[in-house]
Amino acid sequence: MSRKKKKKASNSINPRARDRHLLYSAAVQSPEADLDFFERVYRKKRGARLRLLREDFCGTAAMSCEWVKRSKKNRAIGVDLDLETLEWGKKNYFPMLGDAVERIDLRCANVLDDAQTKVEAVNALNFSYSVFKTRDELRAYFGRVRESLLPGGLFFVDAFGGTEALQEDREERTIDASRAFDGTKIPRFTYIWDQKSFNPVDHHMQCRIHFQLKDGTRLKRAFVYDWRLWTLPEIHELMLEAGFAATEVYIEGWDNEADDTDGIFRRRKKFENQSGWVAYVVGLT
Ligand SMILES: C[S@@+](CC[C@H](N)C(=O)[O-])C[C@H]1O[C@@H](n2cnc3c(N)ncnc32)[C@H](O)[C@@H]1O
Repeated sequence: MSRKKKKKASNSINPRARDRHLLYSAAVQSPEADLDFFERVYRKKRGARLRLLREDFCGTAAMSCEWVKRSKKNRAIGVDLDLETLEWGKKNYFPMLGDAVERIDLRCANVLDDAQTKVEAVNALNFSYSVFKTRDELRAYFGRVRESLLPGGLFFVDAFGGTEALQEDREERTIDASRAFDGTKIPRFTYIWDQKSFNPVDHHMQCRIHFQLKDGTRLKRAFVYDWRLWTLPEIHELMLEAGFAATEVYIEGWDNEADDTDGIFRRRKKFENQSGWVAYVVGLT
């Protein structure tokens, strides 16, 4: 076998590993860590186990699937507007859930619609509420969430910021080889977070996710977002205006030795601004 042929063979990629949702799950999502955080805060605040969770803007519903897998007592509702993405989740995740699939309810709907079922906690992750560009729209959404919470219910969102959030920016990260939930081998690839534009006047921003695979495949604009970047005080004020009693901000600590975040989110009333940070904001009822 010639050298050239050898190189070609080692670069070849299972076509399934070019699926944008699979690559997104490997690069962006960590439902286990998010759920650990929700369970910890819910237990601390309410002295009880969280059982009924709604995932707004659920996309493929990776979080809801992980939630019902965790315990036979857990139930999940996932809400998203995009039928194609919901169907991807059903096709790819549901077969692995066994009987747990009966405890998950995926709804193709707008998060602004009446949620119908009251739940113990709602989460809206990966900054999805940023699609709402005005205070009225975001307050209306937060109000819908507030109405749909059982007494003592909690609302979890994430937020990002820092000096690099307020500008055009491009961040490339190598994602180590991994196996997808269904065993598909995902070779090492590059994830690119592309803040294409940012307008300081109204905080509107255009963001894109691109993927680059080692066989040369590029998935340009695999995901495209048209957002307003909301600040922590705005989120806090709008949650209160929407009827929440209080909010809390949780930020990851820093591990000097590893020169990286330590993976532990602690409640903070004050923190030093950085070039980039991600926080959870919890709305309390
Ligand atoms: C950034 S993705 C988040 C996916 C997932 N929550 C995650 O953490 O990876 C945003 C999702 O929100 C959905 N979406 C946007 N506006 C919506 C709305 N008004 N109601 C319901 N879903 C919406 C999109 O279809 C998309 O799947």
